[in-house]
Amino acid sequence: MEFVRNAWYVAGWSKEIDAELRRFTILDEHIVMFRKSDGSVVALEDRCPHRLLPLSKGKRIGDTVQCGYHGLTFDCSGKCVRVPGQSNLPASAYVEAFPIVEKNDIVWIWMGDKDKANADDVFDMPEFYDPSWHAHQGEALHLKSNYLNVAENLVDPAHVSFVHPTTLGSAASENVPVHVVTEGKAIVAWRWIRDAEPVGFFKKFGGFSGNVDRWHYYYLYTPCTAVIDFGSAPVEDQIAEDERDKGVRIFALHFMTPVTRNYTIDRWMHLRNRAVGDEEASAAMDAMFRIAFNEDKEILEAVQAEEERPLKRRPIRIAIDKGPMVYRKRITELLEKERTHDIASDPTPAFIYHD
Ligand code: FES
Ligand SMILES: [Fe+2]
Repeated sequence: MEFVRNAWYVAGWSKEIDAELRRFTILDEHIVMFRKSDGSVVALEDRCPHRLLPLSKGKRIGDTVQCGYHGLTFDCSGKCVRVPGQSNLPASAYVEAFPIVEKNDIVWIWMGDKDKANADDVFDMPEFYDPSWHAHQGEALHLKSNYLNVAENLVDPAHVSFVHPTTLGSAASENVPVHVVTEGKAIVAWRWIRDAEPVGFFKKFGGFSGNVDRWHYYYLYTPCTAVIDFGSAPVEDQIAEDERDKGVRIFALHFMTPVTRNYTIDRWMHLRNRAVGDEEASAAMDAMFRIAFNEDKEILEAVQAEEERPLKRRPIRIAIDKGPMVYRKRITELLEKERTHDIASDPTPAFIYHD
């Protein structure tokens, strides 16, 4: 399967990477990552160009990596600096090095055209730096699912009524229509459920005594970042759509890393405008999210298993699918743009003559 390559993907939380050589699989490629002596993260192709032993099975010598088989040694740019037993260093003895940006305790990798890697394009949001907000890193959810299905689930507010009845949804929202708009790189699917009982999450964290107005805004940035803005406010406050900061507001962030065609890691975290500095609240929220995201995992893995069986007919699409459909279309367009294969250089069957 093809992946969009000209994009920043999350390689890991900062805490996952230290001085040790560690293997990560991203876009179906093995990458070795480590921190060099100045603390910055290095990402190299995890395959020695000689006999293909993974470099992660070798060892660090200062800021270089020595292959564990015959000792070829590479610097952090992937250049070979030593071939034991000979003095010349062949030009073909190198490994690919990938651009890395570390920001907000997250390590991002660029696996596309290096000339297009721009650190300013790494995902960010002002709430990370706002003292009235609390950011908390959650966990890494491993899913036996294609990333496209995981992403679709993150631009799909309609599923919460059925999949997350104890935490994020309730029957009150089953029939509320979903609106979909695009805002630059984001596809936004949103809806408000006005004047309803608070859902489990906000019963626990909102301290509400009566009915609330609740919102869900799902922002999906192609290819692999999702921000779910959700919250609640007392009905009496009658807050407008653009006054969400007045309520209890939470951003659930999902960074999807396609590992292989049918395996995805969803690293999730959250930001909130309440209980700033309260680590007990962070842990309690983690527990709720863990329940909800494991419910998604169960659904997505079951869907993947069915997709891999012979299909008798095409899956249908319904009204709530607009967000996912726009997403699929954008991914197809990005892949088309990145396709470098020059068809003019290939003789097509039409031009081949047989006697
Ligand atoms: S396989 Fe790496 S040096 Fe031979
Ligand atoms: Fe979900």
